[in-house]
Amino acid sequence: MILVTGATGHFGKSTIDFLLKKGISAKQISALVRDEAKAEELKAKGVNLKIGNYDDYASLVTAFTGVDKLLLVSGSDIANRGKQQKNAVNAAKEAGVKHILYTSFERKNETETSPITFVAQSHIDTENQIKKSGMVYTIFRNNLYLDILPMFIGEKVVETGIFYPAGETKSAFTLRQDMAEATANVLISEGHENKEYAISNTENISMGEVAKRIGEVTGKEVNYISPTQDMYVETLSKAGVPTEYIGMFAGFAEAIKLGEFSVQKTDLEYLLGRKPTSAKEFLKQIYSSKN
Ligand SMILES: NC(=O)c1ccc[n+]([C@@H]2O[C@H](COP(=O)([O-])OP(=O)(O)OC[C@H]3O[C@@H](n4cnc5c(N)ncnc54)[C@H](OP(=O)(O)O)[C@@H]3O)[C@@H](O)[C@H]2O)c1
Repeated sequence: MILVTGATGHFGKSTIDFLLKKGISAKQISALVRDEAKAEELKAKGVNLKIGNYDDYASLVTAFTGVDKLLLVSGSDIANRGKQQKNAVNAAKEAGVKHILYTSFERKNETETSPITFVAQSHIDTENQIKKSGMVYTIFRNNLYLDILPMFIGEKVVETGIFYPAGETKSAFTLRQDMAEATANVLISEGHENKEYAISNTENISMGEVAKRIGEVTGKEVNYISPTQDMYVETLSKAGVPTEYIGMFAGFAEAIKLGEFSVQKTDLEYLLGRKPTSAKEFLKQIYSSKN
């Protein structure tokens, strides 16, 4: 039995869809959901629904009982997920899960000096806990989703250009669906015991190149300005963007600038059995209708 957590979210849902597409019977798949009302689509697909919340330890032990492979999709509640994922790993151990797989993240700086320590620390803690647990593990070092790139550069990018303090450093942004497919491939094959995989695109791209590509696709001139962090924070504050979002966008921009997501060696192409979707192709799909 394979169990996927975060099954009502983008990544978990997509992984389950790939498992089904690749011939795994719905009866062999369980989906952890915290809100049954959101699970109609999963129900219709015939997968086993397990109701559980990362905050409710007992619900997790019950849900994970009888599971051979557990895909723990990292939680979206950044402030609380350290504790929540601790619950999930402990529950997996108590329930007798044989193999735990975790969607972690790509990084270089593991210290508190990282500009994204607010998301990094819980991933690192969970990885360490998993490794110490004695369960067989597989860790996916997922790069930044290509899917969130439009959010970083703003809705009106075609009109305004990119104003983002990421310098000219390149990152290996990766399509979430490609990551989910690779994860499904790992779940249904052998040889991934106690491995860590770099889940990154095969090409890195800078914000300047992103702007150029959007320009090519839309036929409009799209400029890129990389302001100082202070100027960026001030501009977003004046525009009324909530402080927590400003901190998040600025932190990721600095991490990009420092090369945290620049990757030369990736396992994604091997795990997918094909080239991952390039950033250029993704940008074409997203922006070609905006010309
Ligand atoms: N690499 C990147 O660029 C990047 C970007 C964003 C996020 N992430 C990480 O990757 C994860 C998966 O991405 P995604 O796009 O699938 O995120 P998502 O769509 O927000 O899905 C998150 C899932 O976690 C579930 N969840 C949250 N808190 C929970 C709790 N207390 N108990 C049980 N389930 C809980 C959510 O349930 P509900 O549907 O009930 O809310 C949802 O199913 C995110 O959660 C985050 O950790 C990575």
